[in-house]
Amino acid sequence: MAKRNRYYEDEKTRKIDKKAIKKALRFAVPYKALIIKIFIAMFIMSFIALLPTRILAIIVDNVITAKGMEIFGLKIDWVALAIMLVGAYALAEGGNAVFSYFRTKMMAKVGHGVVHDMRHAVYERLQQLAFDYYDSRPNGKILVRATTYLDELATVYSSGVVSIIVDVFKIIFIVVWLMLVDIVLALVIIVSVVPMVILLTAIRTAVARRRRKYREKNSNRTAYIAESIQGQMVTNAFNRKDKNMEIFNGLENERRKAWANIFKVNELTMPVMTGMFRLGITVVYWVAFLLISSGTTTLTPGLLVSFISYSSMLPMPLNNISGQLQEVMNAVANLESVMEVIETEPSVKDKDNAEEMPEIVGSVKFDHVHFGYEKGQVVLSDVNFDIPAGKTIALVGPTGSGKTSIVNLINRFYNVNEGAVLIDGKNIADYTLYSLRRQIGVMMQDSFIFSGTIIENIRYGRQDKTDEECIEAAKLVGAHDFISALPNGYYTETIEQGGRLSTGQRQLICFARVLLINPKILILDEATASIDSESEELIQKALEVVCKGRTSFVVAHRLSTIKNADCIFYIANHTIAEAGTHESLMDEKGLYYDLVTTSKTNVLK
Ligand SMILES: Nc1ncnc2c1ncn2[C@@H]1O[C@H](COP(=O)(O)OP(=O)(O)O)[C@@H](O)[C@H]1O
Ligand SMILES: [Mg+2]
Repeated sequence: MAKRNRYYEDEKTRKIDKKAIKKALRFAVPYKALIIKIFIAMFIMSFIALLPTRILAIIVDNVITAKGMEIFGLKIDWVALAIMLVGAYALAEGGNAVFSYFRTKMMAKVGHGVVHDMRHAVYERLQQLAFDYYDSRPNGKILVRATTYLDELATVYSSGVVSIIVDVFKIIFIVVWLMLVDIVLALVIIVSVVPMVILLTAIRTAVARRRRKYREKNSNRTAYIAESIQGQMVTNAFNRKDKNMEIFNGLENERRKAWANIFKVNELTMPVMTGMFRLGITVVYWVAFLLISSGTTTLTPGLLVSFISYSSMLPMPLNNISGQLQEVMNAVANLESVMEVIETEPSVKDKDNAEEMPEIVGSVKFDHVHFGYEKGQVVLSDVNFDIPAGKTIALVGPTGSGKTSIVNLINRFYNVNEGAVLIDGKNIADYTLYSLRRQIGVMMQDSFIFSGTIIENIRYGRQDKTDEECIEAAKLVGAHDFISALPNGYYTETIEQGGRLSTGQRQLICFARVLLINPKILILDEATASIDSESEELIQKALEVVCKGRTSFVVAHRLSTIKNADCIFYIANHTIAEAGTHESLMDEKGLYYDLVTTSKTNVLK
């Protein structure tokens, strides 16, 4: 069972899981060839990037200190030399820019390609995951995973990882060159860099921890916003604006504080780094002065200048690496959440050898069914019934008694804990979900209308149906008249018109949607509960049409609907407490009788 999580609860961030990284690398495999090209480009680039400084040394030694207008044994005048050197300098910078352009382009292609594939996998999995996954966490948190986290990953893939590699190459080239120029000075620089790197690492680790905290707070706030949007109507109705603002401000403040905390530490990086590095350079000057004045060195002024300018190229890539590493760690933390979605096995899925459910006739049997949503929870205990095809069953009973749970088991929204659900004598767990669900029509209290046209909404479950068939279904349930009266008839956009569709009208569209599937088994869970009395007659008629010739399970409050059922189940104490027709149950004078006779409200009328 999936762990529960609410908007105010931080998601657990575990230690970095190498397995998650390995699994994620799978997504990079299709881009192998491109990645190799990028590597080559990067290698060349980091080399070219260092050329200008080398040229600078030659300029200093040959032009500025003007030891002689000679290069590679050729005598040339200083103007020509200057032009040559400046040209080489420009070429190196230009080459750098060109490589950088192609590398960035290729990398963006890989990064976004990989993340595109991941997003695809996440969405696909979200479609497959069973209800328990959605039951256990707010939609907002799922949304963050499918959007923000993946966006951040794309950035890391397309710039972060690459720039780390470029910078590593750069550092290697710089250090090698420094050592070639003067090993003593090079050691001075390297020694001064070590404590800098240690400090940087400490700062970055602290920052990484704070960023994780931030990420959690951000996800909490997003989840709350998503929930608020969904509950907007209720918020208005209950004047909850102030209280909601208070909750939001609380969550947003936590997020902001977490963000500020990152900066408190992060801002230390630059001063610490430059400070320590300047110190190192000072020592280099001092040592160089000693070496030159003692005459024991081959160091020329040009070499010293380029040594210093090479050395001053060190902090940048070091800082970049530690910064980018942090981004990568952050992305890896996100990666785990994303991979968790992809890796979560749907709790309800096809068996390995699942067969296609043949065309359903319609008998439904519960054989000693036990069920609970969570471990140890008893919702249904030893439920037994056997209904022949074509009958209508009404389920009644107190709220929370398990009516919805029973009907949710028929098309396997959840798995039973014990026992079996059989359709036409076949255990539904042995058949594919697709072949099962396409033959069962479900309508719940909330008649969900998707964005798109009305006809698309009717066709929702069966893309193969023609417009005529959709209109036919709408006519059968009595929805044709009001749909035709809309500005664009069946082609009216629901987003624009959705607000103007009444609950009853939405319900009728949903009836048409179900009817189009032509299911042999029909489940109506309080589908008629929120109908105004004006549409009631219309819905009642639609209900009769829809139920005819099918095995129907109707969870209803209206006595008129219940009375007509072939059999009534009164659900209580986790099971079917009473079963029979309206007349027989009234004669029994038990729970059902009490419900009907004492119902003073219009719940049962
Ligand atoms: N997703 C869920 N997770 C955990 N418990 C649930 C879930 N849905 C319902 N329940 C619990 O299961 C019991 C039966 O609920 P339900 O079948 O929805 O009742 P009814 O439809 O008769 O009102 C209730 O106690 C309810 O709290
Ligand atoms: Mg219910």
